Amino acid sequence: MPWDYQKPKNSHPQLLLAPMQGLIDAPMRDILTRIGGFDGCVTEFVRITHTEHNRSTWLKYMPELAHSNQTRASTPVIIQLLGSDADNIARNAGNVVKLGADQIDLNFGCPAPTVNQHAGGAILLREPNRIEHIVRTVRQSIPAKVKLSAKMRLGYENKKLAIACAQAIEQGGAQQLAVHARTKTEGYQPPAHWEWIARIKNNVSIPVVANGDVFNLTDYQTIRMVSECNDVMLGRGAVQQPDLGRQIAAFNNGRLIQPMLWAELICWIEEFFKNCSNAVQINSKYSIARLKQWLAMLKLNYQEASNLFNIIRTLNNQDHIAQILHQQIQQNPMD
Ligand SMILES: Cc1cc2nc3c(=O)[nH]c(=O)nc-3n(C[C@H](O)[C@H](O)[C@H](O)COP(=O)(O)O)c2cc1C
Repeated sequence: MPWDYQKPKNSHPQLLLAPMQGLIDAPMRDILTRIGGFDGCVTEFVRITHTEHNRSTWLKYMPELAHSNQTRASTPVIIQLLGSDADNIARNAGNVVKLGADQIDLNFGCPAPTVNQHAGGAILLREPNRIEHIVRTVRQSIPAKVKLSAKMRLGYENKKLAIACAQAIEQGGAQQLAVHARTKTEGYQPPAHWEWIARIKNNVSIPVVANGDVFNLTDYQTIRMVSECNDVMLGRGAVQQPDLGRQIAAFNNGRLIQPMLWAELICWIEEFFKNCSNAVQINSKYSIARLKQWLAMLKLNYQEASNLFNIIRTLNNQDHIAQILHQQIQQNPMD
C-alpha cells in the first residue's frame, strides 16, 4: 500500500491537543501550544454536507493553513473533517490539500444529534463497512505524502463493534487512530474505559492515541499504563489546566515542574482575549463570551479565575474588560 506507515521504534511519546468544537479554535490553539508541550493539534470538525467549501471557509476553521499548517509556536495543525458521504468528504479533502493541508483527520465520534441525524460522527460506528469505505475513498483522493488519521469513540450504544471499527479504519488506509474511550451513549460520564483502548491497540498495527479524562499528571501516567499507548490526546484537561502539556513534556524528560501560577496564567488570559478580539474585529460579544467560557473552566483549578469571573460576569464592554485584565496583571507581578 502506498500509504503504509511505520512509526519509528522507541519514538518520543506524542502529546496531541484534541479537537474541541467551540472551545479549541485558532486563538486557543495559539495560546495552549505557546504554553507548550504539544506535538500537534487538531482543528474543530469541519462538517461536510453536499457542497464543497471555499477557501475562506477552510481558513476560518484553520487560519494556520496560511502559515505552513503550524501555530505560532510551530506546532503542526491537522484539519478534521466530519461527514457521511465518502465522495463529498474525499472531494473536500482533496480541496483542502490543494490549499496546503498536509494531514487530514476524520471524525467518527461526534455525539451531536444534528450531526448523527445526517449519519455523521458517532452513528457511523454502527457500520464498520461504511467507515472503511469513507476512509479508503478519502485515502485514494489525497497524495500519499498526506497523512490520514481518524478519531473514534468505542461505539454508539455499546462497544460490540469497537475493534471492528478500528480495524476498518486501518484497512481503509488511515495511518493513526485516536480513541476517546467511551461510547456515544456514555457521553462524557466518567469513567473513560481506558482498558478498551488497549484492546483496540492490540488488534490493529497503526499507532493508537489514547484519549479521555486526562486532567493531571497522574491521569497521564495511568492512561499510558492501562491503554498500553505511548501517545495521548488531551481535551478538557488542557483547557482547565493550560500548562498540563508542559508538565507532561517535562515529566517525559525526567523533570517535575510546578504547575503554572496565576501570575503567569493571567498574562496568557489577556493574550487570549486579544487573540479573540483580533480574530473577529467587528463582534466584541464573541471575545467576551470566549473569555467567560475559559474562566468558567479555569475556575476548577484556580480560585483567582473564579474571582475574576465574578468581576466580569455582567460586563459587556470590551475595553473595560481589557482594562480589568491589565490591572490584574499589574496586581500579580511574575517576580
Ligand atoms: C466542547 C467539546 C467539543 C468537542 N468537539 C470535538 C470535535 O470537534 N471533534 C472531535 O473529534 N471530538 C470533539 N470532542 C471530543 C474531544 O476531542 C475528546 O475526545 C473528549 O473531550 C474526551 O477527551 P478529554 O476527556 O481529554 O476532554 C469535543 C468535546 C467537547 C467537550
